[in-house]
Amino acid sequence: MRIVCIGGGPAGLYFALLMKKLDPAHRITVVERNRPYDTFGWGVVFSDATMENMHQWDAETADAIEVAFNHWDDIELHFKGRRIRSGGHGFVGIGRKKLLNILQRRCEALGVELVFETEADSDADYPDADLVIASDGINSRIRQKYAAVFQPDIVARPNRFIWLGTTRLFDAFNFLFERTEHGWFQAHVYKFDDRTTTFIVETPEDVWKASGLDQANVEQSIEFCERLFAQHLQGHKLLSNARHLDPLKRGSAWINFQRVRCRQWHHFNGRSHVVLMGDAVHTAHFAIGSGTKLALEDAIELTRLFKQEHEAGAGGVEAIPGVLAKYQAAREVDVLRLQNAAWNAMEWFEVVGTRYCDQLPPEQFMYSMLTRSQRISHENLRLRDAAWLEGYERWFAERALQGVPAAARAGSTLAPGVKPPSPMFTPYSLRGLTVPNRVVVSPMAMYSAQDGVPNDFHLVHFGARALGGAGLLYTEMTCVSPDARITPGCAGLWNDAQRDAWKRIVDFVHGHSGARMGIQLGHAGRKGSTQLGWQRADEPLDEGNWPLVSASAIPYSQNSQVPREMTRADMDRITGDFVAATRRAADAGFDILELHCAHGYLLSSFLSPLTNRRGDAYGGVVENRARWPLEVFSAIRAAWPPERPISVRLSCHDWFAGGNTADDAVALARLFKAAGADIIDCSSGQVVAEQKPVYGRMYQTPFADRIRNEVGIPTVAVGAIFEADHVNMVIAAGRADLCAVARPHLADPAWTLHEAAKIGQEAIAWPVQYLSGRSQYETNLKRAQA
Ligand SMILES: Cc1cc2nc3c(=O)[nH]c(=O)nc-3n(C[C@H](O)[C@H](O)[C@H](O)COP(=O)(O)OP(=O)(O)OC[C@H]3O[C@@H](n4cnc5c(N)ncnc54)[C@H](O)[C@@H]3O)c2cc1C
Ligand SMILES: Cc1cc2nc3c(=O)[nH]c(=O)nc-3n(C[C@H](O)[C@H](O)[C@H](O)COP(=O)(O)O)c2cc1C
Repeated sequence: MRIVCIGGGPAGLYFALLMKKLDPAHRITVVERNRPYDTFGWGVVFSDATMENMHQWDAETADAIEVAFNHWDDIELHFKGRRIRSGGHGFVGIGRKKLLNILQRRCEALGVELVFETEADSDADYPDADLVIASDGINSRIRQKYAAVFQPDIVARPNRFIWLGTTRLFDAFNFLFERTEHGWFQAHVYKFDDRTTTFIVETPEDVWKASGLDQANVEQSIEFCERLFAQHLQGHKLLSNARHLDPLKRGSAWINFQRVRCRQWHHFNGRSHVVLMGDAVHTAHFAIGSGTKLALEDAIELTRLFKQEHEAGAGGVEAIPGVLAKYQAAREVDVLRLQNAAWNAMEWFEVVGTRYCDQLPPEQFMYSMLTRSQRISHENLRLRDAAWLEGYERWFAERALQGVPAAARAGSTLAPGVKPPSPMFTPYSLRGLTVPNRVVVSPMAMYSAQDGVPNDFHLVHFGARALGGAGLLYTEMTCVSPDARITPGCAGLWNDAQRDAWKRIVDFVHGHSGARMGIQLGHAGRKGSTQLGWQRADEPLDEGNWPLVSASAIPYSQNSQVPREMTRADMDRITGDFVAATRRAADAGFDILELHCAHGYLLSSFLSPLTNRRGDAYGGVVENRARWPLEVFSAIRAAWPPERPISVRLSCHDWFAGGNTADDAVALARLFKAAGADIIDCSSGQVVAEQKPVYGRMYQTPFADRIRNEVGIPTVAVGAIFEADHVNMVIAAGRADLCAVARPHLADPAWTLHEAAKIGQEAIAWPVQYLSGRSQYETNLKRAQA
């Protein structure tokens, strides 16, 4: 086979040598515009796992890299005068130049032709090639030429960064944060040989501009960074080897990261098969340090597929189209996974200055930074550095205990030598409410009430979950009038019989468990008068429908009733219903009240521009849309005992064009905070039937994180939180204060107790009646885990 690699970076060189090794009869050329043994850039890092993979494919290359690389385990944070270090992270760092030199030598030894100082203009310049590898980097000319085929999706990110080096040697992967009058700068610092350290400086565009760096040339930029990080550099200089940059051109040394992704990875140009590899087809932000790893793994995968064909006796030119299709299919999944993690990590560094630096104490800041990609979880941190994590858990538990009244602390000791509770199992207080742990049974409609009265089903349902260890239980959306119900089976609180029935349940929970009990009050609005959840959900009743009201006269779906646009008199009446229900809820003994302003129900229908088209003072800009929901909030706040908190549940994203986004949710949270809300429960969607949500593990937690840390109000995270590890991660990182868990509690009433046992958490008490069950459960778990 005749192979030409356009671009002699890690991807092109490594593929060339692997293929030559696979079959020395292949004629392989690498065309590179730079001179031999000449390159830009400093060190690159990859993980121990990549090294192992490389060992299997070409031991000579891997051995040479191993001799040259630097291995280190520790990550060290320098933040607000503190130095915090944790271990067990396992990196390999090597100079980019060194890496390329090793690959170039190995190519030469195997008989790959290396052509330097040659600009490849086009794949068409190599008509004799059966296979052209477009390994020409992030600005790939070949990708641009066939943009219509490859369909690249390129997103330029807002932060600016400059890739520098220094002779100051750091013995860990260092992250340095420095505040200026214009905002925060951070440096990513890692040594890669005996004499040199990579030093990448990064900051948001507005801080960069305000600092005058858009007007600075390379030299001035370096001077600025030297001054800013002087105490870390200890007299050493910062160096640039970016010869590809014009030293006099202003601002040019600072670049924006570009996330590249392509729909199609290969193409037949009429003579040759052309395939993208490495940065040409995908990039991963340096916050996760995996661009080189991806490039090398692309090369390995394509070689592996050719080897497979080769071994089946079909390694010739005719195998190429099939191999390329398999290559894309195999690689795009892995790449997407890594790009997603890289995206989280990159975003963390984009918002860190406004969201975390001034909000989180250094200990928590470190935890947040280590878990930024959300690939490294709480228990994973324990595997990396158990001592550090236990120290952090102790710090967290001490602070949590300081935050609750002395009476609630009784019996909770953090004696040295005693394992601290993990963050999930620390108490939390809001006004006069203290919950024993951070797990909330999320509100869930059970459609099992008669005339709005909860019954024995509800007693057993809540009783079981209270005994099951959750710290706080919410009722389902409890409706403030008969016509506020979603379905005829919905629970209500518009009469004294309902109040008394709820009181029986609250009394049971208080009397037999440490759990607290909250009520969610709501009005269905345009989503009312529908069938039970397990019938045709959201469809009108076959008979006995009641009329609906909403912010505007827009039906929820094709088959839905058209609601009447609410008048001011309707607003007054319904506000009164909320107040009456609030008084009854107080009498029933609920500890916290949640106002349901999410999921397209009545109050939510005012908040979203998709469902609120009013031309009066209650429609239009977000302050107007929130006007009546805020009135309701203020009215119930006045009726609710002052020592008991109120939560507001919001749909933080409508998942539909023209609807609310996280920016609106931040604005709404600010308004509710100003009105006296204690905590925001951050849900999303269900506002319009046409929504296109993006689901995934902990998918709504970013809303809780943003609102908590930008608005400065406690939050509840909810949505696909289904393991103790998730709860611990969210709470420990300060992304939320509580975690609401819905569906897992339908599958397992004792979800909290079971999750505690799985992570060996002894801090939680089981009901005394169940203690023998606990010991058997824990023993069996240990056996299964062993
Ligand atoms: C600041 C920064 C830090 C990074 N840190 C890391 C890290 O820590 N770990 C990591 O793994 N990755 C890191 N990377 C990414 C890493 O550098 C790339 O992902 C990796 O080099 C991709 O390899 P590649 O072979 O696909 O492309 P490149 O390494 O970009 O190689 C492409 C080659 O093609 C040549 N070329 C381009 N066009 C032509 C042409 N028309 N004719 C001839 N030759 C051409 C170029 O000169 C270049 O040598 C970092 C990147 C940046 C910007
Ligand atoms: C059966 C069921 C009923 C629900 N009813 C309500 C409700 O009454 N009020 C509410 O705010 N959310 C309701 N939800 C949404 C949940 O509270 C929660 O936000 C959602 O299920 C995501 O959490 P999960 O991934 O843990 O299930 C309901 C969810 C389920 C599964």
